Amino acid sequence: MRIVGAAPESIAEAGQLIASGELVIIPTETVYGLACDAMNEAAVQEVFKAKGRPLNNPLIVHIAELEQLNLVAEDTPMDALQLAQRFWPGPLTLVLKKSLKIPSITTAGLETVAVRMPDHPVALDIIRAAGTPVAAPSANLFTELSPTRVSHLNADISHSVALVVDGGSCAVGIESTVIDLTRNPFALLRRGAITMSDLEAVGVDVVEPSRAQRTGAPGQFPKHYAPRTPVVLVERLTKEMPGLVLTGTAEIGQLKMPEAPGEYQAILYQSLFELDQLGLAAIYVECPPEQERWAAVLDRLRRASHS
Ligand code: TXA
Ligand code: MG
Repeated sequence: MRIVGAAPESIAEAGQLIASGELVIIPTETVYGLACDAMNEAAVQEVFKAKGRPLNNPLIVHIAELEQLNLVAEDTPMDALQLAQRFWPGPLTLVLKKSLKIPSITTAGLETVAVRMPDHPVALDIIRAAGTPVAAPSANLFTELSPTRVSHLNADISHSVALVVDGGSCAVGIESTVIDLTRNPFALLRRGAITMSDLEAVGVDVVEPSRAQRTGAPGQFPKHYAPRTPVVLVERLTKEMPGLVLTGTAEIGQLKMPEAPGEYQAILYQSLFELDQLGLAAIYVECPPEQERWAAVLDRLRRASHS
């Protein structure tokens, strides 16, 4: 494994490696991705293996141009095109009817495929250089925190790839919003930086499926995105509690988090990662308010604190 910066030669090399069936870790605006050719069964299999991910949890396919959508999905509804126009490149993943060209291992045997266009110049250039849609789950081990910078990559994952492309820290900081457009009504499968109101604002209504409706949908694990240290959500941190402060001032052992959700979200994983290195008995987190603008952060904190 080699770590390289995002120079043009490195981007070209990353694209060639992906095209020849190798695994490469790439930056995106959300989190780092463990990338391979989405059309190459053997490479996709290696991605599942490297992550320790169950084969029933499908991958997101990343594209660099809207024209590539035809390779990935079929019967793309008007709403999908409208959402793509408005939010791509960006942290919105659309679940659509799968094209026959995508091997079934990529979608874990489902008839649907998750697709997005990442808003990161390096990711887009690498996909273009590869000349193929790129499957990329977050570059973490199954259930662990997603890396938002190269120094947070797990050593086992890094060693399973041919190349790591360092694009600095990820601006969005949590994984993309996932919505399923093959269901009626459209279903919100994962919260992210693009909120339900953002979608409503362009006339697309999505509903959050109940727990019962969700059984059968992949990737619905209550514990996910978690550091190794137990995370405990509290109303307020006392002086003695190491962890993340939202409204007060930080004492020694505490990190002061930004009070704007977007800024909080951008450094959430990196902050949990830092505290996770300290061998604490618990990481205490001041619970953000129950408001829609905090919904994605609350979702990740609840999953991180689920024991
Ligand atoms: O921001 C992101 O989405 C990052 C970056 C690297 O793009 N990727 C990412 O991938 O978070 P991953 O594999 O860690 O999460 C993909 C999620 C999983 O919850 C998976 O179950 C869901 O998308 N998913 C993938 N294909 C699906 C499908 N056909 N139907 C329903 N859910 C699907
Ligand atoms: Mg993931």
